[in-house]
Amino acid sequence: MKELNINTKVGIVGSGTMGMGIAQVAATFGHNVFLYDINKDALENAKQKLINLFNRLVQKNKFTGDEAGSILNKINFVNDLNRLNECGFIVEAVTENLEVKQRLFTSLEKIVQTETVLATNTSSLSITSIASSCKDYSRIIGTHFFNPPPLMPLVEVVPGLLTSEEITGAVIKLMNDWKKIPVIAKDTPGFIVNRVARPFYGEALRILEEGIADAATIDRAMKVVGKFKLGPFELMDLIGNDVNYKVTETVFEQFYFDPRYKPSITQKRMIEANLLGRKTGRGFYDYSENAVHPEPNKDENLAIEIFFRILSMLINEAADAVFMNIAAVEEIDLAMTKGVNYPKGLLRWADEIGIEKVVKRLNLLNEVYGEDRYRVSPLLKRMAKQKQKFYNS
Ligand SMILES: NC(=O)c1ccc[n+]([C@@H]2O[C@H](COP(=O)([O-])OP(=O)(O)OC[C@H]3O[C@@H](n4cnc5c(N)ncnc54)[C@H](O)[C@@H]3O)[C@@H](O)[C@H]2O)c1
Repeated sequence: MKELNINTKVGIVGSGTMGMGIAQVAATFGHNVFLYDINKDALENAKQKLINLFNRLVQKNKFTGDEAGSILNKINFVNDLNRLNECGFIVEAVTENLEVKQRLFTSLEKIVQTETVLATNTSSLSITSIASSCKDYSRIIGTHFFNPPPLMPLVEVVPGLLTSEEITGAVIKLMNDWKKIPVIAKDTPGFIVNRVARPFYGEALRILEEGIADAATIDRAMKVVGKFKLGPFELMDLIGNDVNYKVTETVFEQFYFDPRYKPSITQKRMIEANLLGRKTGRGFYDYSENAVHPEPNKDENLAIEIFFRILSMLINEAADAVFMNIAAVEEIDLAMTKGVNYPKGLLRWADEIGIEKVVKRLNLLNEVYGEDRYRVSPLLKRMAKQKQKFYNS
């Protein structure tokens, strides 16, 4: 296989939020880019947005006018998929729908050269199932960028079951050349971040549903005690309750309805009421002009209780991802700090708090609720018993 380098022409399919951002990254690192969308208006919209963005970046002195012009000139906005025929690396960023993606990969395979690497930016579909629409599975891989791609350093690189090691190596190198932080994840539901982060939302929703605390109090606990930049409810409102719920639901279904990932009825009702978050003006919070932000309960014991319950569930999920060989300890911590800005790697946090203490907290939840949702990862149990840590230093 040819190496993927600056001379590789890069194709991007889908010029929405993610495709546009990935095109910007590839062009910034010197590639000739071919950005295609099935919808002409979407393509025109992406072009205008990129022009406006680079104008702003020039005003802020991040680029000279010449630099911005030369990056923009590298992006070809094309409305014929055949124009991607000379691309050595293609990233698909179309609608999150398996059939749409499979049809696209079948078409792409007919257009491109035999050495072209075909990547998908899917956040929740199996790479192997997308690859199954092609004759040659070995060159298909997941490159899961985070939003917005130019600013978020993490890329989860996900080989499918039959992806060649050579392709994985070439993609990792290319992501490093693009100054990204690539982590390898196994092709399992949610990869690393969308799996390990589930309890941040799920356990917060559960605490709310039980009436232990309201959204503002839970958010405050995670921000003040845990130093998270945003609380779970603020983050769900930002992501959109519909989008966040859909990810949970997909992970839940793909894990054969494991109760650990069970979606929340509260969040479902919010969607039904169009309380989607910032984008509709109201979610868990009201974003209208004169809205009054609810006052959180500032009881410190309650805050610590909430924080430690959610953190213990997050650590359990991260440990279980290690146990199930989804990724290595360091990669999981990197993924959560660089992909979703967690203040600390969860497994490093476990070491600092003490794994025994975390297991004790989880056992208590398990005892009180008697639900499989709170089962402790076998790895954590073993480590607590043997007084082990995730890191040596
Ligand atoms: N938005 C995020 O935060 C985020 C983060 C990580 C991964 N992703 C994943 O990236 C992908 C794209 O997401 P997005 O948010 O950019 O979506 P988007 O809706 O903003 O853009 C999708 C684009 O794909 C185009 N499209 C649809 N079918 C097509 C086809 N057959 N051929 C060519 N173009 C087609 C649409 O016209 C649209 O412009 C999805 O798989 C999503 O799960 C999204």
